[in-house]
Amino acid sequence: MSNNPIGIFDSGVGGTSIWKEIHHLLPNENTIYLADSANAPYGPKGSEKIKELSIKNTELLLKKGCKIIVVACNTATTNAIDYLRETYNVPFIGIEPAIKPAALQTKTNAVGILATKGTLSSELFSKTSGKFASNIKVIEREGKGIVELIESGKLYSDAMKAILLEYLQPMLKANIDHLVLGCTHYPYLIPILLELLPNHVTIIDSGAAVARQTKTVLEKNSLLNLSAETINLKFYTNGSIDVMYSLLGKGFDVKHLNF
Ligand code: SIN
Repeated sequence: MSNNPIGIFDSGVGGTSIWKEIHHLLPNENTIYLADSANAPYGPKGSEKIKELSIKNTELLLKKGCKIIVVACNTATTNAIDYLRETYNVPFIGIEPAIKPAALQTKTNAVGILATKGTLSSELFSKTSGKFASNIKVIEREGKGIVELIESGKLYSDAMKAILLEYLQPMLKANIDHLVLGCTHYPYLIPILLELLPNHVTIIDSGAAVARQTKTVLEKNSLLNLSAETINLKFYTNGSIDVMYSLLGKGFDVKHLNF
């Protein structure tokens, strides 16, 4: 069982930002990544639809023998992870906006959060926000259009810069000193954000923490891969293979699959 793959899914290519952290920390692990790009973005969809898509992805990864599933999508985590944990007999790792460290570290008492509608309106997010950030100003913006641009290969475009400027403006006006990235597509924006944000604003994303949590859960369940066999890193997308390559780099085993 321990050399079975780690399954990772996202609404599209963005979760590869999480896959990179996991592979960096756990280079001995086999992985299977599912990019549900045909259904991206999940953010504007209702909770029931997000749950249904998360079940479809989970069942495919389980059929492929995955020993643990990383829900590398904030929207799917906040809307479906409780259901997945209750229903399937494997460990699940989820990803939530890192509002806690931002709230603990802020000196200006103002933090920005960029996430999808599905995440910002979820019960899990309002609970976390209420618990850790009730005494500070939280400027939330729904990142409308960002996932669509990334999924269509337009990460570095004038359109992307323009919408980011629009979302950042009210945050900067409120004097934020931390910006929380609440969607796994958004770490790919970091080079652009660094150009647009003043130096005193720290960008926080959850990728490294998710990788550490994955390792901890594998250890606890005696599921770490200790074999010396060559590992397999597989990627399946129901969208564009070229967009996957543009984020991962060439040389990976990326296949098109209808799911
Ligand atoms: C989306 O599909 O709308 C974004 C995925 C995420 O929330 O991480």
